Amino acid sequence: MKNSKQKLFLLVVLLALTCWISEGLAAHGEKKPEKKAILLVTFGTSDPEAQKVFDKIDDQTRKSFPGMEVRWAFTSKMIRAKLAREGNLLDSPEMAMARLMNDGFTHVALLSLHTIPGEEFHELYQNAHLFGQMAGGFEKIEVARPLLSSSRDMEKVAEILMNKIPGRKPSDAVLFMGHGTENHPADAIYLAMNQVFQEIDPRAFIGTVEGKLKIETLLPKLKHLKIKKVYLVPLMSVAGDHAKNDLTGDEPDSWKSILTQNGYQCEPVLKGTADYPEIVTMWLDHLRAVLAHF
Ligand code: CO
Repeated sequence: MKNSKQKLFLLVVLLALTCWISEGLAAHGEKKPEKKAILLVTFGTSDPEAQKVFDKIDDQTRKSFPGMEVRWAFTSKMIRAKLAREGNLLDSPEMAMARLMNDGFTHVALLSLHTIPGEEFHELYQNAHLFGQMAGGFEKIEVARPLLSSSRDMEKVAEILMNKIPGRKPSDAVLFMGHGTENHPADAIYLAMNQVFQEIDPRAFIGTVEGKLKIETLLPKLKHLKIKKVYLVPLMSVAGDHAKNDLTGDEPDSWKSILTQNGYQCEPVLKGTADYPEIVTMWLDHLRAVLAHF
């Protein structure tokens, strides 16, 4: 009697164990179905005109990579806060990555729609890498590089932009405004870019809002070349706040005001780099290079 009770108990335990193991295998052993997404990451904008440019990038991305989930994130906390006050909630890259993970995406490609691999890019790169290390999350997460990531990129962008100056005569100068930074070594890319412009055309220069190349360094060069007319062009993804105020605004410290005071005729070209599909294609080529690893 005692013996058969023991046998029954053992049988029940064995059955329970078998059920537990097979259930466990079904739930955990199966590979998650592949789900791929693209996360477009930009500094951001609160300018409705500039937002239209992002909408065009969105279109071009979806057409280039049909069937893939496409989402957006803004790196600028200031812009996200401003938009949030208007009831427009935009994710930071970290929030967007968390949502993608929560939604079961297995492969995520981030595209840095920034101009240089500066502070925002490096933060993005580091945090994407950390998300990639989380258990039970993505199988693969990679970050595609920003616009000016090689000498070839710089040459291509300079060539495209120099062909987009409407009505320019060879005697007119072209002044590009980059953002620039004093806090990141990638500011040197603007010095390299200035060299690239100079090789294409000795009357084409680049200066920056916050980097080493200030407008003051360009004034003697314009004087030396006896320039009369200057085209003012943003070298930023969108013609937003910096382009409308610091470059072509009416305040006394804008480039337009400073140049006008120095006797130059100014002609603003209020288009950002992302306004040109050829340049968006370059960004998407960076993205394609990353997607090839998936
Ligand atoms: Co700025």
